[in-house]
Amino acid sequence: MGENFDYKTAPDPAMMGDPSGPEPSRRGFLFWLGAALNAIVGLAIAVPVVGYIISPWKSGGWQKWTPLGNADKYPKGQTRLTSYVNPFRTPWDGYTADTPCYVRRMPSGDFTVFAINCTHLGCPVRWFPESNLFMCPCHGGVYYADGSHAAGPPPRGLYTYETRIKNGELQIKAGRLPTLQQSA
Ligand code: FES
Repeated sequence: MGENFDYKTAPDPAMMGDPSGPEPSRRGFLFWLGAALNAIVGLAIAVPVVGYIISPWKSGGWQKWTPLGNADKYPKGQTRLTSYVNPFRTPWDGYTADTPCYVRRMPSGDFTVFAINCTHLGCPVRWFPESNLFMCPCHGGVYYADGSHAAGPPPRGLYTYETRIKNGELQIKAGRLPTLQQSA
């Protein structure tokens, strides 16, 4: 100790606690309490993330064949607005599980099904049979009848669904992911 050490103001060793006494156990308790809280928070974050990642394996993939009704209800040479129920709906989805889309039936009988969302920022587009165009009300995006981009800010044509006819029923592959597999 230096010459200036003041024994009167120095802390009393008896007041500082015994290292083998209650102080370490309080510290240990706080450490384990902190670790337990961290574990709880980690679990609260990890469970939904892991559930989301493994859900495709649990439910058979990201997309499922989804019915759009009897194929004959769609007249040849016309485009019709319809909707389907998201095959991965959860009980709390309510009406948001009802997903609109446009069905275009060619004069040959072939089908193209368009996602309703504009490829710019996702607003629902509207079909105008008078002009044979899809138009987006948000920023003026325009698409031709085949879904390809005609004008405005959208960077590409409308997204399309994979389609098939099974037992006379029109079906599309719909699900959790945007319909990126086909472009228009
Ligand atoms: S969202 Fe359709 S043009 Fe912007």
